[in-house]
Amino acid sequence: MEVVIVADAEAGGELIAEAMAQLLRRKPGALLGVATGSTPLPVYRALTAKVEAGAVDTSRARVAQLDEYVGLPADHPESYRSVLRRQVLEPLGIGMDAFMGPDGTAGDVQAACEAYDRELAAAGGVDLQLLGIGTDGHIGFNEPCSSLASRTRIKTLTEQTLRDNARFFDGDIAQVPHHVITQGIGTILEARHLVLLATGEGKADAVAATVEGPVAAVCPASALQLHPHATVVVDEAAASKL
Ligand code: GLP
Repeated sequence: MEVVIVADAEAGGELIAEAMAQLLRRKPGALLGVATGSTPLPVYRALTAKVEAGAVDTSRARVAQLDEYVGLPADHPESYRSVLRRQVLEPLGIGMDAFMGPDGTAGDVQAACEAYDRELAAAGGVDLQLLGIGTDGHIGFNEPCSSLASRTRIKTLTEQTLRDNARFFDGDIAQVPHHVITQGIGTILEARHLVLLATGEGKADAVAATVEGPVAAVCPASALQLHPHATVVVDEAAASKL
């Protein structure tokens, strides 16, 4: 695992956007795994700037979703599909035909999860998976004590994650869906390159457990230690407990 400490979130965003741009120059049809949350926004902004400047071509790029709420209609503004369309696909000029994600509205959620794992594999696998991290060390929505070998499946959010995510639902915890679909940790580990971005002091404990703690299900992100090509990009504040 490579740990890169940058001055701030913008510098982290630029570094990762450049890695994505280089990947797309090498492999124009690359499959980019993207994450939601506030942390990756500087990455998407920096990559969009490169596209607008003509420094990278996204016309053949493909995008894969990491996780999704169960039960939110796909066109709900806070479904992760909608969020990614707004924050990633539209700015980068990538159409929904080049997007893949799990169906959070499926009648048979388990079948939808298995179908998504098959879809990812059939697409040739994720080339670069961008990850944020929860304050409890979760990646995607793999909450603490998720199996390190898990596949895409339904999960129940912890109280802490419900509280953390209430800000996207008018601050009202009652509106946050309790169930989610997430790529499993085993699924995530199949991506060729994992890039985790963490910024701000609130992530310092989770970053320390990820980088310096034992590989353990209590900190799902620590599974990155098992990956042959994992990069953890942290700003000074998130690195403060290393
Ligand atoms: C959610 C997402 C994660 C994300 C986390 C952190 O739980 N499912 O993928 O990493 O939020 O969000 P933020 O970056 O806003 O702190």
